[in-house]
Order: sequence, then structure tokens, then C-alpha cells
Amino acid sequence: MKITSAEFLISNTDISKCPEPKFPEYAFIGRSNVGKSSLINMVCERNKLAKTSGTPGKTQLINHFLINKEIYFVDLPGYGFAKSSKQNRNIWSKFTHNFLKTRENLLCTFVLLDSRLPPQKVDLEFMEWLGKNRIPFVMIFTKIDKLSSSILNKNITSYKKEMLKIWEALPQVILSSATTKHGKDEFWNLIEQTNASF
Ligand code: GTP
Ligand code: MG
Repeated sequence: MKITSAEFLISNTDISKCPEPKFPEYAFIGRSNVGKSSLINMVCERNKLAKTSGTPGKTQLINHFLINKEIYFVDLPGYGFAKSSKQNRNIWSKFTHNFLKTRENLLCTFVLLDSRLPPQKVDLEFMEWLGKNRIPFVMIFTKIDKLSSSILNKNITSYKKEMLKIWEALPQVILSSATTKHGKDEFWNLIEQTNASF
């Protein structure tokens, strides 16, 4: 897909103040620092659309972006941020869970997973929650430029194995790198196919 425009719309913690649900919407979620904001920038061919940071916990609100005047992307705060207080984590989980369950135009949620790590409990539990709530999702492995293809394959295989203990079938998997732009075409193909159902 050709990106003709990508603009930041609004940040908030109040679902009722999110943009009118008139376009297909996609949410980006995953642990702090996994690369959500970087992935949004990479696929949108913009360096500073979503704010990125080496310090986990940068994105703290529901951030809406409008792409090509016809698609919403939502950058959500990272979960599993050890430094944030328990109270903050509860607030996070309440509003993001609520958002994911009630947002009527949300077509797919991208669950970002760090390709360097073995399967993480917090991610597996989160995906299980999505499944129980019938929220469609795709797994996107990030930062694949940081490891060799043999270790990458090993990590992905062990992730799939772990998922198959809970799931009958696996969701779609995309491998990505914000550095090399790997995964960009596959990502947009998926969006184009999914948009057709809106
Ligand atoms: P929070 O908003 O804090 O939850 O983080 P986030 O998930 O939005 O992560 P962010 O995009 O800010 O990236 C975190 C760090 O990882 C930054 O230093 C990025 O430059 C780096 N990073 C993200 N994606 C990649 C990637 O594909 N490859 C490499 N090498 N670094 C990446
Ligand atoms: Mg972020």
C-alpha cells in the first residue's frame, strides 16, 4: 500500500473520546519496549509519527493515528512494565481491556512479541484473554535484525509449540524489523485483505 498520509489524531484514556469509529481500526499491543511505536513508524514510512524510546513505558495512553485518511492505527501502552506501580498497571489493564472489548471498528489486534525471548507468561496470558473474548489477533515478532536466522527459527518454533498447548490452531505470524523494514509488505497485505471485511 502506498502511504499518502499518516497523522496523529488524539491521545486519551477515555474510550468515549476516541475518534468516531467510522474507519477500520488496528491496535498494536505488547510488552513495554517490544517495539510497538517503532513498528507503526516503519510501516507508515515515518520516523517520528509514534514516539519511541529506549526507556520502557513511553506510550501511556491510547494514541490514535489516521493513515491515508481511511485506516486508524492505535498505539497502546505496553504491559508488563515492572517499574510502573501496581495501581498504574491496574488502570492500564482496565482501560485497554475495555477498549479492546468494546471498540466496534477494531478489526484486528497486533500482539507484538520480542523475537529474542522465549515465550513469556504475560504474553501467553494476554493472548489467551484475547481468545476468550473472541478478539481477532495476529502475532508479530519484532527486532528480528538482532538475532541470527537459526536462533530466530528456534525461538519461533518454541513459541508456536507453547501456543499449541493452549490453542487448536495458531493465528497468523509475521516477522518484523523496524531497522531492516522486514515484514512491511506482508503487514500491508494483511491490512488490505482485512479491510475488505469492514
Ligand atoms: P513502550 O511505548 O514503552 O511500551 O515501548 P514500545 O513497544 O512502543 O517500543 P519502542 O518502539 O519505543 O522501541 C523500544 C526500543 O527498541 C527503541 O530503542 C527502539 O529503537 C528499539 N527497537 C524497536 N524495534 C526495533 C527493531 O526492529 N530492531 C531494533 N534493532 N531495535 C528496535
Ligand atoms: Mg510506544
